[in-house]
Amino acid sequence: MLGLLACDASLALVLEVWSQLALGGVVAEEAVMTPSQAFDPAEFKRNIRTEWRSAAAGWRKWLQVVEAEEGGQRHSAKLVELAELQVGASVLDVGGGYGEPSLTAARAVGPRGRVVCTDISPEMLAVARDRAVDAGLANVEFVACDAEELDFDDESFDAVLSRATLMFLPDVAGTLKRIRGFLKSVGRLAASVWGPQPLVQFSAAFPVVVEELALPPAPPGRPGAFALSDPGRIAELAAQAGFRGVETGTVSVMFETDSPEQYTEFIRDVAPQLTTLLVDQPAAVQERVWEKVTDTYRRFQGADGRVRTENQAIWFKGVK
Ligand SMILES: C[S@@+](CC[C@H](N)C(=O)[O-])C[C@H]1O[C@@H](n2cnc3c(N)ncnc32)[C@H](O)[C@@H]1O
Repeated sequence: MLGLLACDASLALVLEVWSQLALGGVVAEEAVMTPSQAFDPAEFKRNIRTEWRSAAAGWRKWLQVVEAEEGGQRHSAKLVELAELQVGASVLDVGGGYGEPSLTAARAVGPRGRVVCTDISPEMLAVARDRAVDAGLANVEFVACDAEELDFDDESFDAVLSRATLMFLPDVAGTLKRIRGFLKSVGRLAASVWGPQPLVQFSAAFPVVVEELALPPAPPGRPGAFALSDPGRIAELAAQAGFRGVETGTVSVMFETDSPEQYTEFIRDVAPQLTTLLVDQPAAVQERVWEKVTDTYRRFQGADGRVRTENQAIWFKGVK
């Protein structure tokens, strides 16, 4: 399915990243660096691009689950509020994926405003473009670009937003510094990342897969879903990049499905790295692991049978 599976080194890298992801970045003290664990940012970037290209169909399919009122919509609304967007403002979205918080920002700034939605995956942006058309929003532009290579004139934007993306970047410090340059004087940054893995219930599948496949823990400091789950560290990075008045907080993001079985289907479709880990396993192993994952999601099942997960996102904001 994925080109990266043809390359052993790539697969090793993916395994490490997901071990870290599943364990919330906690690394066993006895973990020993081996040559296969050497981190290659370029290789990582190629793999993550491939993964997010493959995930776009899943995000389109599960739009209603991800973007529910108490889920993605609450998440985007929080960032738009923190950025204090004014009508007519210009906004850059870093890693906007299938169009969030871009579309929410586009409504806030109105037709005289401008939003540039960027992402490393053109396929995710294609979903974003379709969503913008469906919503009648003509003030969003789409740019397929690595966040670490964005290139805009200095002082082009009133605000920079980013939802659940920055932790996937090998060079967060450099990227924050760079995007600060794109902001006008007193322009605002408002971004979010996932909190600690145990507080992000949708990720309950990940420790299950790691345990079932006996994957090794990854060395610290690698990019991944929980690489920025410490608000103190985020605040430090933003301040070091030159942002003033940095503050952090949390927002609770709910994802809900009809049943545990449907939750597993959802997570398989929207978390491409998880599926990658299992794709080469024998069918019996895959079946066993997915059943265990479904059992894990039963923990979040209500009396009505529905599965409701609560997921902590950490937000941070700062002024240029
Ligand atoms: C969890 S999704 C979040 C998407 C969207 N912001 C949202 O909240 O729905 C992570 C996004 O980060 C993007 N991404 C990962 N690495 C990136 C990079 N180096 N540059 C730009 N986008 C990247 C992926 O393509 C994906 O769309």
